[in-house]
Amino acid sequence: MVKLPNALHLGHGALCTLFLFFPQYASAQNLTDSQVSDIESRLAEGATHPWELGTRAQALLEHNAQAFSVFSLTIPSTSVPSNTSSALAPVFSIAKGVVNNRTASNGNITGPQPLVADDSAADPASIGPAVLLANWTNQGDGVDYAGAALDQLNFLYEKVPKTSDGAISHRTGEVQLWSDFVYMVPPFLAYYGLLTNNQSLITDAYTQIKLYRNYLRDTSADNLWAHIVLGTNPDGVANDPGHWSTGNAWAAAGMLRVLATIQSSPFASDMSSEQDDLADWVFEIQTAMYPHLNTTTNLFFNYADEMNTFPDAASTALLASTVYRLSLLRGVHHFLPDAEKCRETLFSTNSSGLVHFSSDGWLTPVVNPNSFGDEGSDSPESEAFILELQAAWTDWVNDGSQGANGALRFGSVHGVTVALAALSVSWMLLF
Ligand SMILES: *[C@@H]1O[C@H](CO)[C@@H](O)[C@H](O)[C@H]1NC(C)=O
Ligand SMILES: *[C@@H]1O[C@H](CO)[C@@H](O)[C@H](O)[C@H]1NC(C)=O
Ligand SMILES: *[C@@H]1O[C@H](CO)[C@@H](O)[C@H](O)[C@H]1NC(C)=O
Ligand SMILES: *[C@@H]1O[C@H](CO)[C@@H](O)[C@H](O)[C@H]1NC(C)=O
Ligand SMILES: *[C@@H]1O[C@H](CO)[C@@H](O)[C@H](O)[C@H]1NC(C)=O
Ligand SMILES: *[C@@H]1O[C@H](CO)[C@@H](O)[C@H](O)[C@H]1NC(C)=O
Ligand SMILES: *[C@@H]1O[C@H](CO)[C@@H](O)[C@H](O)[C@H]1NC(C)=O
Ligand SMILES: *[C@@H]1O[C@H](CO)[C@@H](O)[C@H](O)[C@H]1NC(C)=O
Repeated sequence: MVKLPNALHLGHGALCTLFLFFPQYASAQNLTDSQVSDIESRLAEGATHPWELGTRAQALLEHNAQAFSVFSLTIPSTSVPSNTSSALAPVFSIAKGVVNNRTASNGNITGPQPLVADDSAADPASIGPAVLLANWTNQGDGVDYAGAALDQLNFLYEKVPKTSDGAISHRTGEVQLWSDFVYMVPPFLAYYGLLTNNQSLITDAYTQIKLYRNYLRDTSADNLWAHIVLGTNPDGVANDPGHWSTGNAWAAAGMLRVLATIQSSPFASDMSSEQDDLADWVFEIQTAMYPHLNTTTNLFFNYADEMNTFPDAASTALLASTVYRLSLLRGVHHFLPDAEKCRETLFSTNSSGLVHFSSDGWLTPVVNPNSFGDEGSDSPESEAFILELQAAWTDWVNDGSQGANGALRFGSVHGVTVALAALSVSWMLLF
């Protein structure tokens, strides 16, 4: 008999059991078209803040126009096929509204400026990918999308304060780093680099994430990320060293968009170590978060490791989406059983309908998007997270539900090869 280390023996037994008795993880719960349509409508009505507009655009790409999402792993077509134009219309409408508003509110100003005037230096950049896509597909009609995107890019580099080692601040007024940044800025830098064939921008997307991780990862809390560090609070937002669940999910989800953008680019083979790091860092956040899941509710607490905070379906949805994405992009299946549990809970129904949604389609219970310590209702970002979860799960199912049992549960990202070897040994021993 082949001698395996102890840990692999344990894994091998568990694997055989899972494979023999649970060949298919249940996937019954699913949203109907009319439920999805309600969620899209609530999101459209509710999204007004810059980060909500950017997140809505991204969710619509992932859910309704896959070929134009970075998760398609291709450089998008410069022409919009007729069967996709209605799916892209609301994305282009966000871009157009924002860019037109810019000239309207700022007069004839050109030069470095955010897409929307805001105290956050990061949030307006989240709309950047939609603006870049509008330029790329020639939506034109007299609106200077390329110029607006360039001004937003230059604003980040030239006008926003930075740490001494180069991390771009999340705020305009002072250097303050928020986990949310990872979803707002690096995906824009990377997409700009993809569409202008500029590797240094893609590399900088990676570098910004690396810097943010250095500041926010809390090694005294098993690598959960803090929410807000640095800064002296001149403009009203105090530091928040707590491990805000949505912030951890923003970070992991932003990293995956950058990872997918690198994979879509001509620089993919040149940037394999950056891809490995991003995959490791996503897995690191999942590894930090899932042990804190309340297994009664299958929801995270608003602050992952503070059990006196309320249960939050928003972060639960976004983090689950990252599990399907990491599985699809990198074959890391470890947390799929947890993600499936969360998804099935979020999409579960009783005789009066969806248990975790109001009758008109708002997710509940959720953190107040305008006051991160408080429970709220009618959260636009949470509706976007649900679409991203549904999109990621659907892509994963269409790809054959690979690793549905979390086949590599005892592996780490770098343990994947070892785990695969153990799996084949298991089968050889059985048959
Ligand atoms: C979920 O439901 C939608 C709408 O009925 C359907 O198109 C889709 O195929 C279903 N997805 C899965 C994975 O069953
Ligand atoms: C549009 O059509 C193309 C090919 O004709 C197909 O591959 C694609 O999946 C369709 N997209 C949508 C959103 O239906
Ligand atoms: C345009 O700017 C105004 C004033 O700041 C704001 O109320 C409105 O929502 C903006 N519209 C869009 C489409 O961004
Ligand atoms: C706006 O800027 C353009 C280009 O610099 C210039 O040609 C135009 O006259 C300016 N318009 C106004 C109203 O200042
Ligand atoms: C705008 O799109 C064109 C192709 O239509 C591309 O050549 C150019 O690089 C794009 N500009 C930006 C800033 O993305
Ligand atoms: C890439 O983008 C950076 C930042 O805008 C710019 O300084 C550099 O000139 C660009 N490189 C190329 C090759 O276009
Ligand atoms: C998990 O949620 C249940 C139901 O709300 C609650 O009773 C329980 O205290 C929670 N678990 C922990 C560890 O807080
Ligand atoms: C269904 O779930 C909702 C939300 O938890 C609850 O308010 C309602 O009472 C439940 N209805 C039934 C018939 O169990």
